[in-house]
Amino acid sequence: MNISVIGGGYVGLVTASCFAHLGHMVRVIEIDAGKADLINQGVPPIYEDGLEEILKETSGKNLSAQSHYKGVEDADLIFICVGTPSQDDGAADLSYIVSASESIGAALRGSKKYHVITVKSTVPPGTTESIVIPIVQELLGDGSNGIGFCMNPEFLREGRAVDDFLHPDRIVIGGSSAEAVRVVQEAYEKLDAPVITTSLKAAEMIKYTSNAFLATKISFSNEIGNICKKIGINVYEVMKGVGLDHRINPHFLNAGLGFGGSCFPKDVMALIRLAEKNGEDPVLLKSVIDINERQPGRIVQILKERIGDIRGKKITVLGLAFKDNTDDVRDSRSIPVISELLEHGAVISAYDPMALESMEKIFPGINYHTNAGDALTGADACLVLTDWPEFSKLNDEFNMMKSRVIIEGRKILSCSDIEGVCW
Ligand code: UGA
Repeated sequence: MNISVIGGGYVGLVTASCFAHLGHMVRVIEIDAGKADLINQGVPPIYEDGLEEILKETSGKNLSAQSHYKGVEDADLIFICVGTPSQDDGAADLSYIVSASESIGAALRGSKKYHVITVKSTVPPGTTESIVIPIVQELLGDGSNGIGFCMNPEFLREGRAVDDFLHPDRIVIGGSSAEAVRVVQEAYEKLDAPVITTSLKAAEMIKYTSNAFLATKISFSNEIGNICKKIGINVYEVMKGVGLDHRINPHFLNAGLGFGGSCFPKDVMALIRLAEKNGEDPVLLKSVIDINERQPGRIVQILKERIGDIRGKKITVLGLAFKDNTDDVRDSRSIPVISELLEHGAVISAYDPMALESMEKIFPGINYHTNAGDALTGADACLVLTDWPEFSKLNDEFNMMKSRVIIEGRKILSCSDIEGVCW
């Protein structure tokens, strides 16, 4: 098939490269010409496990990138993969969806071919019907009969997105017609996964609901962890026993500092605003966010209880990324922790295997190190904020500390004398 993907960010680039890997002809429309150039050279502008290999295999063959919409009229299938960031009040900002729809409408004007426009971006229910379809139809005028519309949410985890794309649990396709759904389904033909077909709005809601449910599991585990810690129980023992119930399952029950990243905080807030706009008070979702916001403060509180006044003390922070295997620090739980430590006058030394550069843009004034041992030398205390697997091997490095106070915000260390944020 001939596929155009609008947006060359995490979702767009992974989607485009994986569709090319499956044998389709793929064109990425990325307004940042620098990023488009990199893609054409087979160099991923972002880090994602396995992406470089796929780009090398497809770029210049059946994958190309450009910063204009020429050639989109040849596409059977057009995926909208632009960002939907938060507005100040937490509602989804749909301005990129609007501009992508306008550009697609203009690019397809006069085309006689049947095209299916598919929204992959995470958008509030009703967006495809009330924003994308009318904009495209107005720009196309009479030609609009030749267009189908679908909503096909992504469930890709950063750092594991290529594998998630190629081995999905399910493929959800909401469609304006059976014909439109058939075209999207055909694009995924080579993947072995159940296909769920729904209305456009239900597909949009499935994405928000999945992320909100996963975020709820995390906040639930954190609340149980906070209770367990008070009464001397290890929440990890508890959740092991709980997760083996097949109705619950063991995933996303890891208590700690809470959820960060570009999706959960943003999507749960957008769902809260959507509920409120429709006259609902989403008390559970608000608590999910509330628990998540409080969790980082707990590790600083424990630190204060252990070492007293933090002012002038050397605190080592291990882990800056919002989770392992990524250089992404968006909404990372390490940000509120570092901010609070700085407010208390701590001298911070930080190490992260991948995210030093990204964090330096947010906190230029702290000391960054390229290995854990250097960061730990002379430290009064150490806080572990990301679950990087390499931290599980740390042991002798802690001997370089002035005093051995180690507090984990993510359960990853294997050495002794460690206190957890909620275990
Ligand atoms: C999440 C979803 O998992 C994907 O399915 C979805 O496609 C994506 O959002 C999105 O909407 O685009 P992602 O944000 O990449 O993916 O990261 P996750 O692996 O889900 O982790 C999110 C946060 O939750 C991290 O900060 C992680 O440390 C935290 N977490 C995760 C916990 O605190 N405990 C857990 O048990 C699991």
